[in-house]
Amino acid sequence: MKYIIANWKMNPESWKEAKAIVLGIKDAGSRAKQVATVICPPTLFVPDVGRLVRSPKIRLGAQDAYFEKSGAYTGQISPSMLKDCGVSHLIVGHSERRREGDTDEIVQKKLKSALSLGFTVIVCVGEKERDEHGFYLAHVEAQLASALKGTSRKDVSRVIIAYEPIWAIGKSAARAATAEEIEHMMLYIRKIIVGIHGKPAAKHIRTIYGGSVDVKETPVLIGIPYVDGLLVGRESLNPKNFSEIIRIADRA
Ligand code: PGA
Repeated sequence: MKYIIANWKMNPESWKEAKAIVLGIKDAGSRAKQVATVICPPTLFVPDVGRLVRSPKIRLGAQDAYFEKSGAYTGQISPSMLKDCGVSHLIVGHSERRREGDTDEIVQKKLKSALSLGFTVIVCVGEKERDEHGFYLAHVEAQLASALKGTSRKDVSRVIIAYEPIWAIGKSAARAATAEEIEHMMLYIRKIIVGIHGKPAAKHIRTIYGGSVDVKETPVLIGIPYVDGLLVGRESLNPKNFSEIIRIADRA
């Protein structure tokens, strides 16, 4: 089973456009046999997206949630509220949230809270830049070790690690990561998790890739060993191309 996850970020600007995207990917998502499609719209659109997609193949996700269940936290959305709206998947630690102040400690709290409520959690890790000395490896290891602190071996089956090298994300990305770089990091992440939770955890680990994923690159990306899926930003707003990504992953 592959995961194709749409991270819409703060897009689109209206429900009318959001509805058109959902309707445009519904067919490919519900027909796929080997792919679980997860749509993570802006929180405001979550309930309506949930009402539009009633296929067990298409899951509802959210881009972030606070770690407390309720209380005096102006402007925050709690994981319990999302759960009540039918959300089953949650992204934590996206680099754009980390940039806005989510520390490793906050990511750890968000993961713990979401796991305790039964979510499947997509934990994003990734370095800002690559250096010749390999410090980027230590950076990813530290992010993972911190996020997973306090989780159990059983939790691993509800955690999906998304490797998103920041230098390869978005319109201004210098270049895409190579297949070799991605495979190497997928293996490295698995090694770290085995180090934390022991060898039996290995068979439950899922690692996905994100960073300027487009329909053209999908056949190569989805074929990389240990890539269990893709986290797609900009291209997930284009229903035709995103549907094609789902179909390619389904055939892979
Ligand atoms: P991108 O975004 O596909 O637009 O590079 C990916 C992400 O940040 O999740």
